[in-house]
Amino acid sequence: MKKKITPVARERVLREEDFIVSKTDPKGRITYANRVFSEFAGFSEEELLGTQHNIVRHPDMPRAVFKMMWETLEQGREFFGYVKNLASDGSFYWTFANITATHDQHGETVSYFSVRRKPCREAIALLEPVYADMLEKEKEVGPKAAIETSRRILQDCYQSKGETYDQFVLAL
Ligand SMILES: Cc1cc2nc3c(=O)[nH]c(=O)nc-3n(C[C@H](O)[C@H](O)[C@H](O)COP(=O)(O)O)c2cc1C
Repeated sequence: MKKKITPVARERVLREEDFIVSKTDPKGRITYANRVFSEFAGFSEEELLGTQHNIVRHPDMPRAVFKMMWETLEQGREFFGYVKNLASDGSFYWTFANITATHDQHGETVSYFSVRRKPCREAIALLEPVYADMLEKEKEVGPKAAIETSRRILQDCYQSKGETYDQFVLAL
């Protein structure tokens, strides 16, 4: 059971050499978590294994980012993105995540693999207000139109520069 965690305005910052690594089954249940993951999320390996990866979902994250993430993976592409995560004590930590899928010989997804590293401050400074705007819109327009509306805000960010989403996040 996922415990209700109250977010607090306290940040934990990854060190330059830190990599948060996790593996999940095709449904997003954690099958592997490294020590840095446990340290930042504030959960033991036992608590993490078998749990849905949304255990570290921060309420400040717009739903549209995760929707994009799953769509990208389902299309057989790797996902890159900035993700604010929630630790068990309510604090938060920003990551730059890369997620890839492993397939069997029939093309079926067997697992997902994610590596996250410390994001640069400039990227967070740029994205934080964008995510806040997306989240506000998601609440404002209601669940049906939320993703569509919120996604357009992010799209405007990279399309206005003539870039794709990947070009945009990788250049931040
Ligand atoms: C390999 C992998 C890593 C993930 N890492 C994170 C993560 O660090 N933080 C997060 O909030 N969601 C992560 N997710 C996405 C979650 O599974 C989930 O879709 C997301 O937290 C949204 O949760 P919700 O659908 O309950 O709102 C990851 C998914 C996969 C497959």
